[in-house]
Amino acid sequence: MATQPIPESADAPLRPRDLSHTPKRYLVLGATSGIAEATCRLWAAEGANLFLVGRAADKVEAVAADLRVRGAAYVDTAVVDLNETQHHADLLAHAITSLGGLDVAYLAMGILGEQSRAEQEPTHAENILHTNFTAPVSLLTTLANFMVKQGHGTLAVLSSVAGDRGRKSNYVYGSSKAGLTAFTDGLRNRVDREGVAVLTIKPGPVKTSMTAGMKGSEKFAAPAKVAKIIADRIGKGTGGILYVPGLWWPIMTVIKAIPDSVFKKLNL
Ligand SMILES: NC(=O)c1ccc[n+]([C@@H]2O[C@H](COP(=O)([O-])OP(=O)(O)OC[C@H]3O[C@@H](n4cnc5c(N)ncnc54)[C@H](OP(=O)(O)O)[C@@H]3O)[C@@H](O)[C@H]2O)c1
Repeated sequence: MATQPIPESADAPLRPRDLSHTPKRYLVLGATSGIAEATCRLWAAEGANLFLVGRAADKVEAVAADLRVRGAAYVDTAVVDLNETQHHADLLAHAITSLGGLDVAYLAMGILGEQSRAEQEPTHAENILHTNFTAPVSLLTTLANFMVKQGHGTLAVLSSVAGDRGRKSNYVYGSSKAGLTAFTDGLRNRVDREGVAVLTIKPGPVKTSMTAGMKGSEKFAAPAKVAKIIADRIGKGTGGILYVPGLWWPIMTVIKAIPDSVFKKLNL
């Protein structure tokens, strides 16, 4: 990457900042997500070009209108149920054409589902896995191949700390995120040398519609705080794993180290 030479003294003339690698064109899959919307607000304030995909037309339009007011240079939308993988190729081609290229794809779609229902109804467990794993794999495979061909780009994917260890209270959701984490880990290793960054984002609990009404949700992280950390990291253009807030890295390191004989007795 070309870097800006450091002026030799404070009097040396400052050249304009090299913005050629600053991400500007964002595709957001699941744009009505609380975390995604908060992230898009930061990008809008920088004058970004955004293509928003969601499944509820009124919600997508409300987010788009808000981002235009906040300074986005360009906002286009598509209303698509992203579970319908047969539409992915056309949708992605349309989005990339609309944006005139693509720098960052931000995948935020996801459902929590109901653990107790998933224990009794295999189809409900399948639905959770489809939305959180199978459909994202379809989207990311096409996007990764496009970015490899163009030789640059960032795939930023919202996985979860829940994927780090199966807990009895939400192992179906957790396993869908474990799959997504493993997929993005492998994808990162595949495309890293091709100029494509894959960022696996693992939030702890965040105050959004997904967690509304949960016990203790008033103490969960604010979407704006989480979004700032995510946007800053995406702005660096580097892949890797991002625990957000960062405190979740040591917490999950401890949780993963608890022996199974002890872990199964815990009420987690
Ligand atoms: N909140 C947390 O504590 C937390 C923690 C860790 C990870 N995460 C992950 O972060 C991501 C964003 O979650 P959030 O907290 O922002 O929750 P959210 O506000 O409920 O966002 C979930 C988003 O996924 C969209 N979605 C679900 N199924 C879809 C489908 N078939 N087609 C298109 N869009 C679909 C939803 O659309 P609708 O608006 O139409 O429902 C919504 O925009 C999710 O992947 C979630 O698993 C969240």
